[in-house]
Amino acid sequence: MKNIRKVIIPVAGWGTRSLPATKNIPKEMLPIYNKPVIQYVVEEAQRAKIEDVIFVTNRDKSVIEDHFDYNLQLEGVLERAGKTEKLAQVRAVAEMVNIMSVRQKKQLGLGHAVLCARELVREDPFAVMVGDDLMFGGVPAIGQLIEVAMAEKMPVIGVMEVPFEKVSRYGIIDGLEVSPGIFRVRSMVEKPKREHAPSRLAIVGRYVLTPDIFDYLDKVTPGHGGEIQLTDALQAMAQKSGMMAVRMSGMRFDAGDWAEFLTANIYFALQDEDLRYELLELLKNFVQFQ
Ligand code: G1P
Repeated sequence: MKNIRKVIIPVAGWGTRSLPATKNIPKEMLPIYNKPVIQYVVEEAQRAKIEDVIFVTNRDKSVIEDHFDYNLQLEGVLERAGKTEKLAQVRAVAEMVNIMSVRQKKQLGLGHAVLCARELVREDPFAVMVGDDLMFGGVPAIGQLIEVAMAEKMPVIGVMEVPFEKVSRYGIIDGLEVSPGIFRVRSMVEKPKREHAPSRLAIVGRYVLTPDIFDYLDKVTPGHGGEIQLTDALQAMAQKSGMMAVRMSGMRFDAGDWAEFLTANIYFALQDEDLRYELLELLKNFVQFQ
């Protein structure tokens, strides 16, 4: 398998779970501590040596592309004010990766979003990262998948165990564990009812795929929620040519879930040595008054 240089990041969703905060701001631009959600996702891709980011956007999301571009006016202001550290920070974001984008003109589902990027991906294997799934700790999550995809010469998806009461929020796989944490996928189903879930292994928004997935996506009919589901195309592909799944190590935050979003804010703020002590004191006092 060729090296993975491109990632598709679908960001065209409405972000209804995060309303009213996301009425006029893309959910991917909500800050977690001092960076927007999407920057964490792109940083993970960059750490896995991915160079080209393809955003699948809509008409209200151009601010996401702007975030990864230069802002010469702001840079001028920071330069004149002698704020060299801030200047370096904002420039570094513009220099992280190459940015491309394609419009998803109708929100017809995750599978449809991936299909929109077909012409930008062409013949190469590529990654897909869901724009509001944050993964942390150790080796970049997408890097873990790339490693297995290269070794097995097969598409690979990231999974994590979730409690049975949450299986209906995810794509769930049935897999045979061939070595610790590595599964051969037998089948998968999008957002099953608890009683129909084949396991507790949930797909977590990280995929390494080959371009033949586009042919499967072309053929799938609307599935769960009337949407073109990536999971349905993956299921067909897994049956035909095989697929692996990797149990991701590290932590995951779903930025569209308020409890997880707020926890992620505290988690990252606590990593900042300058803020840590003061934040812990404030939180301790606050908890005492609850
Ligand atoms: C999508 C996928 C689902 C996966 C989830 C991970 O669902 O369709 O299989 O488990 O991302 O976040 P969504 O959250 O977009 O409904």
